[in-house]
Amino acid sequence: MDPILALREAGVLTLTFNRVEKKNAITQEMYALLHRELQAALADDAVRVVVLQGQQDLFTSGNDVTEFLQRPPGGLDTPVFDFLRSLADFPKPVIAAVGGPAVGIGTTLLLHCDLVYCGDNALFSLPFVNLGLSPEAASSLLLPLRVGPAAAAELLMFGEPFGADDALAVGLVNRVLPPEELRDYAQAQARKLAAKPSASLALTKELLRKGQRELVHATMADEAWHFARMLQGPAAKEAFSAFLGKRKPDFSKL
Ligand code: COA
Repeated sequence: MDPILALREAGVLTLTFNRVEKKNAITQEMYALLHRELQAALADDAVRVVVLQGQQDLFTSGNDVTEFLQRPPGGLDTPVFDFLRSLADFPKPVIAAVGGPAVGIGTTLLLHCDLVYCGDNALFSLPFVNLGLSPEAASSLLLPLRVGPAAAAELLMFGEPFGADDALAVGLVNRVLPPEELRDYAQAQARKLAAKPSASLALTKELLRKGQRELVHATMADEAWHFARMLQGPAAKEAFSAFLGKRKPDFSKL
């Protein structure tokens, strides 16, 4: 089974996380596939809008923890950053449809999407501090811009999961839907956009983003350096070993 499904229909490329047995944990292979799909969509006039989704009750549990331990991303020349850069710079509209858990990069990648719809079952989390890590994907820049500095500090420092209503209240999502309607709604919105003049949409997106593009890339690079260092640290190792060992982490000596 392909861990990323790609479907092109009616001007919409739909990319679906498809590794349900591991809660759609994202591997380097999956980042590479997402990157490749986005690059192909760039050059394909038949793709006018991209939808990123999981299943009705599952978006993604974030980066694959086993890979974090065994193959930690060491620099910017890695599939995860290829993907993040192509998402951040993607010139056509990107819609995310989030049902169930959206952990770590599952939430930070939303900051690079143009529209985010979620089910009322969505559960977002930015657990970096609780995992002995630090923010990534330019979230230390984009989250405060999106939700305000106070909410950003709360979400990043406590790292507690938050639901759809809170996400709507802080402006992380555009709309909350019944879970069974989420993916159809995202498709309908995507088709609506796909029917609009593409040059006007692309220009609108460019103008909305151009002021922060350089800063986004610089922040991503800066965060990546810290993240790679923190990943090798004792707190992250303890957090991930505990998760895989199905026990509570012990940070008492760290
Ligand atoms: N990486 C690797 N494996 C993962 C994973 C991840 N990010 N998330 C879940 N899995 C695996 C579990 O180890 C388990 O594998 P097993 O069946 O071989 O034991 C399986 O997926 C099911 O996960 P489980 O935790 O039992 O499901 P749940 O329904 O109780 O909880 C989540 C779902 C998403 C809330 C929970 O898995 C979770 O919090 N994952 C996040 C892990 C994480 O720290 N991500 C990195 C963020 S930076």
